[in-house]
Amino acid sequence: MSARVRLGVNIDHVATIRNARGGAYPDPVRAAIVALEAGADGITAHLREDRRHISDGDIEKLAMMLRERGRPLNLEMAVTQEMLSIALRHRPHAVCLVPERREERTTEGGLDVVGGHNWITPFVTKLREAGARVSLFIAADEQQIEAAARTGAEVIELHTGAFCDAAREGDGEGAARALAALRRAATLARGLGLEVHAGHGIDYETVSPVAAIPEVVELNIGHFLIGEAIFVGLREAVAEMRRRIDAAHPESAP
Ligand code: PXP
Repeated sequence: MSARVRLGVNIDHVATIRNARGGAYPDPVRAAIVALEAGADGITAHLREDRRHISDGDIEKLAMMLRERGRPLNLEMAVTQEMLSIALRHRPHAVCLVPERREERTTEGGLDVVGGHNWITPFVTKLREAGARVSLFIAADEQQIEAAARTGAEVIELHTGAFCDAAREGDGEGAARALAALRRAATLARGLGLEVHAGHGIDYETVSPVAAIPEVVELNIGHFLIGEAIFVGLREAVAEMRRRIDAAHPESAP
């Protein structure tokens, strides 16, 4: 297990703001550089099928910038042939396969690996053959975790949305239940030889209990950091998140 929990900063919503005016400002690549300087270990970007935020050109520029700096790109994508060929062209360090529905506002649930096993497994194989670390974004569910292990993926990213929503709504019992499920899921996954990441909906309040799960080695955080950047700047927002992660994780001495 790595000594400190890695922080992947998701810069999708810098592109959301840019696209509101259709120009080139603010530039997600510039945001990615600031995030790295402030303590992010890597950059995460979701190229959605409808291109609502990140564009193909963004992925190209991000991949180039990160390669030059020797930092990882984590490409989030749906399990489609189009996305597979884009991923094979850019050869990102990591690919996280996510479910995607056009009408959703954000990635609403985990991937159904149990039902989609035969569809997902060849994608995992091809991406791994191309040198990517493949992660499956799934709910904290025993059957999904076991199915994920059978696809040959090396990593799962646990969907923290249920925990974060309950915590934000002041539903203490619901949050405790969701956190316990995340903990059990992390232990099960690690026991099956999977690396455990977590993400979705994390903010300053919810990051500590998630980062404290001993098996978690990477967190991917986006929307809250870009929102917080409006008030304190991206550099300070990422640095504060970094401090909280390091304080929370049992092995996070820098
Ligand atoms: N991880 C995955 C797999 C995601 O799909 C997302 C959202 O794009 C995130 C992490 C980041 O979630 P948030 O923007 O809510 O922090």
